[in-house]
Amino acid sequence: MNPKPVHHPVLLEAFLDAVQPKSGERWIDGTFGRGGHTTALLERGVKVLALDQDAEAEAAAVLVKERWGESFHFFRENFREMKRVSESMGWEKVEGILLDLGVSSPQFDQAERGFSFRMEGPLDMRMDMRQFLTAARIISGESEEGLSRIFWELGEDRDSRKIARAIVKAREVTPIETTTQLAELVSATVPWRKAKGIHPATQVFQALRLKVNEEIAVLEEVLPEGTALLSEEGRFAVISFHSGEDKRVKRFFQRHAAAELENPRNGWLEPNPERWYGRVKRFLPEEAEIQLNPRSRSARLRVAWKSLKEEKKRKYYEPKSS
Ligand SMILES: C[S@@+](CC[C@H](N)C(=O)[O-])C[C@H]1O[C@@H](n2cnc3c(N)ncnc32)[C@H](O)[C@@H]1O
Repeated sequence: MNPKPVHHPVLLEAFLDAVQPKSGERWIDGTFGRGGHTTALLERGVKVLALDQDAEAEAAAVLVKERWGESFHFFRENFREMKRVSESMGWEKVEGILLDLGVSSPQFDQAERGFSFRMEGPLDMRMDMRQFLTAARIISGESEEGLSRIFWELGEDRDSRKIARAIVKAREVTPIETTTQLAELVSATVPWRKAKGIHPATQVFQALRLKVNEEIAVLEEVLPEGTALLSEEGRFAVISFHSGEDKRVKRFFQRHAAAELENPRNGWLEPNPERWYGRVKRFLPEEAEIQLNPRSRSARLRVAWKSLKEEKKRKYYEPKSS
């Protein structure tokens, strides 16, 4: 993956088309980044509460604030705090929530942030530089079994055990502190992967990044919290690049949009007591967007609409297989 330095908000048109933001609505953008999606919302007359845990996102937000004044508010916070922050502003309910998960291209492209195995940098990978845990601390402090579990569960790396063993052996001799040190060690451990065209350390780096930033845990917290914040006309939109994240979003939305659920004890279909959404749908980038921004290839947008009125109009349900 080599994201373009030019900023291009992923799946922007698909998002706007799906959620149809209306002037005067209140939205939370939980992943402000450089404000691409936020700006598009502001241009449609929406009031935006934006969050991001990254210091550079905060700096970018200053310019957006200058232009949009009271329509825009930024907090340097993890989006797991969205309910508290929203309520502190007197926003008890909002009409929409957007999460564009993962790291931003500017974060990824800075060697010193340590996200990329292609550039020499410290093994850092923190989105929030105020936190203690870094990738280097995991690599130096986790047990062999712990490392293997991280690579398998978060990176689906089939050679997780072999790689964990190699790391533990290598760190007894020299500390592993840089991205290229780790990337070279993984490449030397699973050299046959080079022939497949993707870098052998891709999954290991992905797994470490997810672990450092607790990305799965915060996503699982924010889905129910965000849902509770949505008004009756609310929409929840999530863009993800990682299949593990997308799977969780899909399961959550489908479970809470199903009219009936199977009772595991007797197999009967019963009305779903937690039917919070009327409709859910998935969107993929079109070929033209992928050409323009290759990073968008693995992006998936899932939208859930609270309103049952919408459901009656469109009668649309996401097929179980997608
Ligand atoms: C893919 S970028 C978002 C890009 C943005 N939509 C735009 O158009 O510029 C993801 C951003 O979300 C932030 N982020 C990721 N997880 C977060 C979390 N749990 N809490 C707060 N910010 C988070 C990252 O720091 C990064 O800036």
